[in-house]
Amino acid sequence: MRFSNKVGVVTGGANGIGRCIAEEFLIEGASVAVIDMDEDAGGRLVEDYGQERVLFLAADIAVERSLNLFADKVIKRYGQVDFLINNACISRKGILSRCSYEDFNYVLRVGVSAPYQLSRLFMDIFTENAAIVNISSTRAAMSQADTESYSAAKGGITALTHALSISLAGKVRVNSISPGWIDTTGMDEGISKSDFLQHPVKRIGNPLDIAGMVKFLCSKEGSFINGENITVDGGMSKLMIYHGEQGWNYTPEE
Ligand SMILES: NC(=O)c1ccc[n+]([C@@H]2O[C@H](COP(=O)([O-])OP(=O)(O)OC[C@H]3O[C@@H](n4cnc5c(N)ncnc54)[C@H](O)[C@@H]3O)[C@@H](O)[C@H]2O)c1
Repeated sequence: MRFSNKVGVVTGGANGIGRCIAEEFLIEGASVAVIDMDEDAGGRLVEDYGQERVLFLAADIAVERSLNLFADKVIKRYGQVDFLINNACISRKGILSRCSYEDFNYVLRVGVSAPYQLSRLFMDIFTENAAIVNISSTRAAMSQADTESYSAAKGGITALTHALSISLAGKVRVNSISPGWIDTTGMDEGISKSDFLQHPVKRIGNPLDIAGMVKFLCSKEGSFINGENITVDGGMSKLMIYHGEQGWNYTPEE
């Protein structure tokens, strides 16, 4: 098992992509520490894999004292961090919905400030060959309307990634992943055939597509990759469409 005796920290590791990343670490022999607001789902992760290998704290990563408490627990229990996966993020929409100053800042605290703060709190216990992987989004570089809070957080975490990779040079490698459309329900709920076929790979993503890249970036095979953002979106953000192509027609809104 390639991650035996390693410790992986995953924010938002109780559900979705984060849960998949935490489970992949566990399956490969690592212990994990998860902070997530969903107490029930976090409890199920502990039940499934055992208290010895899963440290879970139910808390909001937007709150500084929760991050301090979590870091204290990780330091006391494990005394080391091999992988820090800054995964949790949310959206509070954007300017068309009149997203408030408080809501906008809340998203930035979850999506940018918490990843910075956890990197800082673990600075002294990162092991040799440690890796930080930040989960960004293709929305860091392209937008739908009314998405300012989320897009700004994702732009922030992408820039934080290359900055940290230089500041922590020789100590921790820092990369980000930009997922495209990832179905976290496992049931393709409400997803049409066209949703699949519009992707150059003819499918949408699943959490293992992202967890696989996380594991690669944390492993020896990924050890020359640093400060990079890897897009994992089935080629969706590379598809250039003009009016009349790909079955798409542009109808200007009145
Ligand atoms: N699913 C996608 O299509 C997609 C695409 C691009 C990027 N992403 C990114 O991947 C990451 C995971 O997304 P997901 O789809 O698995 O989300 P999800 O909503 O399924 O799971 C997110 C988890 O984070 C937790 N969480 C949210 N805010 C928190 C907070 N303030 N404090 C503690 N825990 C918190 C939730 O309780 C939940 O368990 C996010 O950063 C998201 O922006 C997802």
